[in-house]
Amino acid sequence: MSSNPDLLAAIPERCEADLIGLSRIHDPDSEGWTRTVFSDPYRESREWIRARMIDVGLEVHPDGAGNLVGVLPGRNPAASPLVTGSHTDTVRGGGRFDGAVGVLGALEAVRLLREHDLQLDRDLLVIDFLGEESNEFGLSCMGSRALAGELSAADLDRQDHHGTRLGDRYAAFGIDPSGVLASSGWAKTRALHRYVELHVEQGPLLEESGVPIGVVTAIAGIERILATFTGRPDHAGTMPMGDRRDALVAAAEAVLAVRQEGCGAPVHGVATTSQLVSEPGSPNVVPGRVRMQAEMRSVDPGWLSEAQRRLTEKITLQASAYGVDVDFEWSHDNECRPASPSVHQTISSAVDSLGIAWEPVPSGATHDAVHMARLCPMGMIFVPSQGGRSHCPEEWSELDHIATGVQVLAMTLVELDRTTD
Ligand code: GLV
Ligand code: MN
Ligand code: MN
Repeated sequence: MSSNPDLLAAIPERCEADLIGLSRIHDPDSEGWTRTVFSDPYRESREWIRARMIDVGLEVHPDGAGNLVGVLPGRNPAASPLVTGSHTDTVRGGGRFDGAVGVLGALEAVRLLREHDLQLDRDLLVIDFLGEESNEFGLSCMGSRALAGELSAADLDRQDHHGTRLGDRYAAFGIDPSGVLASSGWAKTRALHRYVELHVEQGPLLEESGVPIGVVTAIAGIERILATFTGRPDHAGTMPMGDRRDALVAAAEAVLAVRQEGCGAPVHGVATTSQLVSEPGSPNVVPGRVRMQAEMRSVDPGWLSEAQRRLTEKITLQASAYGVDVDFEWSHDNECRPASPSVHQTISSAVDSLGIAWEPVPSGATHDAVHMARLCPMGMIFVPSQGGRSHCPEEWSELDHIATGVQVLAMTLVELDRTTD
C-alpha cells in the first residue's frame, strides 16, 4: 500500500460538483433523476461524461457496444490493464448516486493519481457501461454483457411491449447493432488484470452498523418469473363466488407465496412481485387472464434453485384450487458471483491502512461487476446509503462517505497495479 495513504484523499468538493453536474441532466417529465438507457437525457449525459473523461486526462474510445472507455496510459503498454467503472443510466424515478458514484469516483481517482504523479505500470480503463439498469427488453448490464461476450444476436431480437427490437433501439441511438455483436467480447482479446467498482450500497446494512465502507463478498444471482394465470372471464355481477375461475385471485395468492419465500431465506434472499397485468380489466368482468412478473435474488445459489422449485409447485397448487391454470417462464438474469478473495483482501487492507472500519457485505443489487468477473478477478467497494433507500428520488449518500470510497478505490488501484499474477 502507498506509504502515505493521505496522498490519495479525494477532494469532496470536486466529487460534489461532478455529482451535481451529472444530476442536472435528467428527464424533466419524469420523477426523480430519470436517465434511462437510449433516452435523450442519457445521450446528453454521456456526452457530458465523455467531456469529463477528457478533462481528467483520459483518452476516450467508444467500444462499438456503446460503452465509453477512458484510458489512462500506464508505463507498460504490454501489461494487462486494470479496469474500474460503473454506469450512468438510472431507473425511471431513480436517484443521483446509483452508478454515478462509480463513474465519477473513478474520474476523481484518476485526478488524484495524476496530481501526485503516480503513474501506474498498467493502463487503467475507466468504463461508463451502457445501460446497466434492467430495461423494457428485460435485459440489464447491456454494455458489460457485450464486453464479456455475453450479448447474443437473439438478445438483439428481443422486443419491448411496443414490438420494437432491441437492435433497432441501438441503431436509433446511433450504435450500429452489427458493431455491437462484432465488438461483443472485445475485452477477451486483451487479458484484463483486475476489475474493481465503487458503488453505493443501496441497502441498510452499513448504516445500521455505522460503518463507512463495505467490501462486497458476493453479488446475488437473479431468477425471474413470468407467470400467466388462465382462468375464465365471466359476468362479475352474476357468476356466484364459488363458481368463478378468477385468475387475479390466484395471482394474488402467488404474490403472497413469492413474499413468503423471500421471508424464509436462511442466509440471504429476497423475492419481489413487480407487476400484475389483469385482463380484460373491466370492473364488471371476473379477470380471465393475468400476467405476473416477479424475481428472486440470493447469494446462495442452492436456496435460489430450491426456492424456484418450491414456488412453481406452490403457485400451481394454489391456482388449481381456484380452477386456474398457470404457465411459467423462468429466466435467469445472472448467476450469483462471489468477489475474488484476493481483490477483497486488497480493498480491505486499503481500508485498514486508513484506520477506519469496514464490513463484509453481500450485494442484493446486481452490477456490471457480475459480467466483468467473467474476464478477470473482481471486487467492489460500497459506501452507505441513507435509510438503505435506492432506485427512488430520495436515494442519498453522504459526501464524506463517497470521498472515503474514492480514496479506497484509488489506493486499491495502486495496489492492484503492483500485483503480478
Ligand atoms: C440494478 O440496480 C439491479 O439490481 O437490478
Ligand atoms: Mn447500479
Ligand atoms: Mn440500479
